[in-house]
Amino acid sequence: MSSSSTPTATFIFSLLPLFLLLLSDANANAVDSASTVCIIGSGIGGSSVAHFLRRYSPPHLNFTIRIFERNPVVGGRMATVNVSGHIFEAGASILHPRNLHAVNYTKLLNLAVNSPSSSDESSSSAFGIWDGHQFVFKTLSFKSELPFVDKIVSLANSLLMLFRYGYSLIRMDKFVETAVNKFCKYYESFETRPVFETVDEMLKWAGLYNLTTATLAVELADAGLSPLLIQELVTVITRINYGQSVSMSGLAGAVSLAGSGGGLWAIKGGNWQMAAGLIDRSDVELHLQEEIESISSNGEYYELNSTLQNSYTCDIAVVASPLDELRLKFNPPVSIPKRELQHTHATFVRGLLNPVYFGLKSVAEIPELVGTIEIPDLPFSSISVLKQHDEKDFTYKIFSRKPMADAILDSIFSVRTETIRINWGAYPHYTAPEVFAPFILDGQHLYYVNAFENAASTMETSAVAAENVARLILSRFPSIVPLSLPSLSSEGDGGDVHVDL
Ligand SMILES: Cc1cc2nc3c(=O)[nH]c(=O)nc-3n(C[C@H](O)[C@H](O)[C@H](O)COP(=O)(O)OP(=O)(O)OC[C@H]3O[C@@H](n4cnc5c(N)ncnc54)[C@H](O)[C@@H]3O)c2cc1C
Ligand SMILES: *[C@@H]1O[C@H](CO)[C@@H](O)[C@H](O)[C@H]1NC(C)=O
Ligand SMILES: *[C@@H]1O[C@H](CO)[C@@H](O)[C@H](O)[C@H]1NC(C)=O
Ligand SMILES: *[C@@H]1O[C@H](CO)[C@@H](O)[C@H](O)[C@H]1NC(C)=O
Ligand SMILES: *[C@@H]1O[C@H](CO)[C@@H](O)[C@H](O)[C@H]1NC(C)=O
Ligand SMILES: *[C@@H]1O[C@H](CO)[C@@H](O)[C@H](O)[C@H]1NC(C)=O
Repeated sequence: MSSSSTPTATFIFSLLPLFLLLLSDANANAVDSASTVCIIGSGIGGSSVAHFLRRYSPPHLNFTIRIFERNPVVGGRMATVNVSGHIFEAGASILHPRNLHAVNYTKLLNLAVNSPSSSDESSSSAFGIWDGHQFVFKTLSFKSELPFVDKIVSLANSLLMLFRYGYSLIRMDKFVETAVNKFCKYYESFETRPVFETVDEMLKWAGLYNLTTATLAVELADAGLSPLLIQELVTVITRINYGQSVSMSGLAGAVSLAGSGGGLWAIKGGNWQMAAGLIDRSDVELHLQEEIESISSNGEYYELNSTLQNSYTCDIAVVASPLDELRLKFNPPVSIPKRELQHTHATFVRGLLNPVYFGLKSVAEIPELVGTIEIPDLPFSSISVLKQHDEKDFTYKIFSRKPMADAILDSIFSVRTETIRINWGAYPHYTAPEVFAPFILDGQHLYYVNAFENAASTMETSAVAAENVARLILSRFPSIVPLSLPSLSSEGDGGDVHVDL
């Protein structure tokens, strides 16, 4: 694949097959009715590829779509945990109001939404920044049934924040708003939005690429944020959302900061239902508890072998999972830039925090959300209240970079009736400058949705990458366009109209 292609050229060439297709119903017999797309992974990425392939395919193009999932359930990093009978998000938990694919999925699938106001965490729940010895910052907490009291408390908290961080807070908002606005270009219609073969090209087109070349700390300092705001509030947020410091890339940082604003929402009962619903509606042959071990290509088709000793023949293969920690073998081998995953340990505890650990007198003084800054040997990144059952009985969620040992938990909690630990290969460990794997792994029909995860890792970014990959698949699939078209046959190689730009 050449990297010299300009976005405009790619745009025109990539759209051609789709246009031709729409014009040429008579060529239905040019399509191999047995064409099979095999997707590895049933998370939001894999399920979105299936959804958009169905939505964008012309009626006569009837792919067989298979999804392989090694787990017994769909959803991947969207998963729930059952803590003594109560269900909470264990992985991806919040969506941004401008996550338009998620908004559309919710409507399409008739899912109910947990809006911020209906959640257990009220807007005035207290937030504190812990440095290992003391709270360097704390907002007010005042639980009230009266909405106007809540409003006053939240206003007072805004003033407290403004007092500590000053005008930098507004600069931070602007930085995030600018990045979010650029990201929204990915919702533009086909007329103005090209199909992208590489993540680099996709980010450059939206004006987001530069944010991946410098660290968040540098980008924010350039934007005029004070060192105090970067060391404290911003660091707290990147540690909560990506388990990492402000030395992560500016783009992942911007996405992480966007995930701390207002209007955040979630799917009632679990975000995994988006993947389940999309798969249900997309006429997919779903293979649960079947792990793909190898993908071999003979130039004409792909052979996928699974742990169940099955072998599947596919015209198109799509990897919709990070490859970094997979045992998946490619034959011939593919090469992608090395990437480390950041592991986040999510620990769920039913019980009661011990105020003594925080140097406080009563549990009520401990903020509902405890964030932390970059101090060596701090055992956790954040602790938050998921639910208050009664005055002395809560469910908490802890994020940490290392597993939470029992001894540490015993010092933080005075009561612990249930503890559940989940070790997530959570998201890439972000660096700057980022180096991206291509969407097309072999120059043929082997695709990699999670190449985009080096930009940022969220449910919505996976959906956006998946939508682009679905368009890319359709624009490059050989048998879609009849061989006889004069304008293209001169350029095609054996009927594949994709022009290698
Ligand atoms: C703790 C945590 C908190 C997060 N918080 C948020 C948040 O609040 N908001 C947000 O938007 N995002 C959040 N994220 C990120 C979000 O979860 C991911 O970006 C997104 O879910 C990725 O979806 P995906 O489909 O690309 O990958 P995945 O969800 O990882 O799906 C890949 C699937 O492929 C399967 N698989 C892998 N290899 C094979 C194989 N060889 N054969 C068969 N199946 C295979 C896996 O089992 C998995 O189900 C969070 C992530 C974590 C871990
Ligand atoms: C596509 O194929 C499936 C199974 O082969 C079949 O059930 C379905 O009706 C077909 N759809 C169209 C639009 O041809
Ligand atoms: C949660 O787990 C308990 C057992 O600990 C079980 O009785 C209950 O049905 C589960 N709840 C849900 C909703 O799965
Ligand atoms: C959401 O769905 C509507 C209606 O189908 C469609 O017009 C719109 O383009 C969709 N938005 C995105 C971001 O796909
Ligand atoms: C990105 O950086 C390059 C080189 O420094 C510059 O020419 C370009 O204008 C920048 N793009 C944006 C969108 O800021
Ligand atoms: C996949 O399975 C087939 C059939 O069992 C076998 O012939 C082939 O060698 C296997 N491929 C790999 C890479 O293991």
